[in-house]
Amino acid sequence: MYKQIAAELLAKSLNKSAEEIEEQMERPKQLQHGDYAFPCFALAKEKRQAPQIIAAELANDLSHDVFSGITARGGYVNFKLDKQIAGSRVLRSIHQQRERYGSAAVGQGQVVAIDLSSPNIAKPFSMGHLRSTVIGNSISLLLEKQGYEVVRINHVGDWGTQFGKLMCAYEKWGEEAKVRSNTIPELLKLYIRFHEEAANDEQLEQEGREWFRKLEQGDAYANKLWRWFRDASMEEFERVYQLMGVRFDSDAGEAFYNDKMERVIEELEQKKLLSWSEGAQVVRLDEQELPPSLIKKKDGATLYATRDLAAAIYRKETYGFSESLYVVGHEQSLHFRQLKLVLKKMGYEWADGISHLSFGMVLQDGKKMSTRKGKLVLLDKVLKQAIQLAAANIAKKNPELADKEEVARQVGVGAVLFHDLKHERIRDIEFSLEDMLRVEGETGPYVQYTHARACTLLTKAGDIRCDSEVAAAIAADAWPILSLLMQFPEAVADAIANHDPSRIAKYVIDLAQAFNSYYGKVRILDEDDDLGARLAIVKAVAIVLAEGLRLLGIAAPKQM
Ligand code: ARG
Repeated sequence: MYKQIAAELLAKSLNKSAEEIEEQMERPKQLQHGDYAFPCFALAKEKRQAPQIIAAELANDLSHDVFSGITARGGYVNFKLDKQIAGSRVLRSIHQQRERYGSAAVGQGQVVAIDLSSPNIAKPFSMGHLRSTVIGNSISLLLEKQGYEVVRINHVGDWGTQFGKLMCAYEKWGEEAKVRSNTIPELLKLYIRFHEEAANDEQLEQEGREWFRKLEQGDAYANKLWRWFRDASMEEFERVYQLMGVRFDSDAGEAFYNDKMERVIEELEQKKLLSWSEGAQVVRLDEQELPPSLIKKKDGATLYATRDLAAAIYRKETYGFSESLYVVGHEQSLHFRQLKLVLKKMGYEWADGISHLSFGMVLQDGKKMSTRKGKLVLLDKVLKQAIQLAAANIAKKNPELADKEEVARQVGVGAVLFHDLKHERIRDIEFSLEDMLRVEGETGPYVQYTHARACTLLTKAGDIRCDSEVAAAIAADAWPILSLLMQFPEAVADAIANHDPSRIAKYVIDLAQAFNSYYGKVRILDEDDDLGARLAIVKAVAIVLAEGLRLLGIAAPKQM
C-alpha cells in the first residue's frame, strides 16, 4: 500500500504510470536506509543525466504524511515511513480484519481446478506425492485467500498396464490373506517380483498385457481384483490425508475417464489430428519439435496421455475453470507440454489456462528415490515418527497440556510439512529424516512455538486492552516486527504470483525471529503506559503467524 503511495508520488512527478514505477521499486538492503527505494539508473540513461542528480531532484520534490523522510542516496530515492503513523495503522488493520488481513478479491467469480497429490494405487505414497500434496494444498489455500473458488482433484493413478502386471503376479504368486492384512506392501512385493521374473521371461510381459486387456474390456474377475486393490489402497492414503488435514473435492482417478476417452479419440480423428506410427495412433507435434503424443497403442490400449486429455476436457466442461493447475514433479514436463499442445490443436483456446506447476525431486544420496529398490521411505512412518517425537517433547515440557494428542499431531505434521514447503518449489531436496523431524531453527514447530508464546502472553495479560495507537518510541523498538506485518499482504500476493508457498514459509520464519528478538529485549508485560501498545503488537503477531501457518496447511495450537 505504501509502496503504491510512493510509486504514485514518483509517477506524478515523472509523468509515468504508477504501475511501471512500482515494478521498479525495491526494498533497501538495510532497514535504516528506508522502507522503499526507487533506483534512478534507467531514468539516467533515458535522460542522459547522472542518477544521483535525478534522485536528488526527486527527493527534493516529493513529500507525503506517511513518509517521515524522502532522501537521495547513491542514485536511489529512499522513502522512510513514519514509524508511528504506519505502525499504528497496520496494527489497526490487523486487529480489525484479523485472519482476513492480506486477503484480496482478485479471484472472485473465477474457478481454478488443481490436480494434486495423485498417488498410484497398489504402491506406497512416495515423497514426490507428499510434495505434490502439501504444495498443492498450500497453493489452493492461497488462491482461496484471493477469492478464487478452488476445485481440488486427486487424479489417482488407478489404471494402466501396470495393473495387468499386478494381477498377473497376484494370480501366480499372491496369497489372499496376506494381501488383505497388509495390502500395499504385499502388492508392492508382487509387483517387484513380476519385474524381476519378467527380465528373463518374455512370456510374462505378454500375460500382463493380456490381463490389462481383460480389465479394459470389463472382465468381471479382473474388475473385482482391481476394485479390491483400489479400495484398500485408498483407505491407506485416506489415513495419511487425515493426519495431514488435506481434503479433496474429487478423487476421480484415471479409471474415471475410461468411458470418456472414446469421444475424445473420435474428435481427434474428425479433426484429422491422428496419424499412424508403427501400428499405434499418435498426434504428431513435429512443428513444435516435440515427440508425438501417443493416444492408442498397437493393441488398442489407451494411455496415461489419453486419460489426461479426456480429464482436461471433462474438467473444463464440469467446472468451467479459468485456470487449470497440475502440481506434478518436473520429470513430467514433456507430458504436460504435449497435453497442452494437443488441446490447442483441437481448437481449445482455454488450454492457455493450463499450467504445470512442477517441483523438484526428493533425492537420496543425490539420486531419485526408487519404488522398486528396497530403500523406500514410507511417508506414513515418517509422519508417525514425527508425531511421536512431538508427543515425547510435550510429555517432558508440558505434561499438563490439554488436548495433548491433538497438539502432538499438529506439531509432528507441522515439522514434516514445513520442511517441505520452506524449499523453493522448483529445487530438488536431499532427503533427511533428521531434518524433517527437527524442531529448532527454521522449522514449523519453531513458528508454532512462537505463536503459542504470543498467545500465552495475551492470556496472561487477561483483560488489559490492546491499544493499537502506538507511541513513537514503541514503534521504533518494534519496527522490524511492524515492517514485516506490513509486508504480509505482499508476501501472500507474491506466493500466489509464483505459485510458491516457500515465500510464506520464509515470511513466517522472519516474523517469528523478529518477534523472538523483541521478546528477548523488551519486558512486554510490565505495567507501564505502553503495555496496551505492546500487547497490540503481540496480538497482531499471533494473528499473522497463525494465518501464515494456515496458508501452509499447518495448525497453530494456542499452547504447546
Ligand atoms: N499418478 C501420477 C504419478 O504418480 C501423477 C498424476 C498427475 N496428474 C495428472 N493429471 N497426470 O506419476
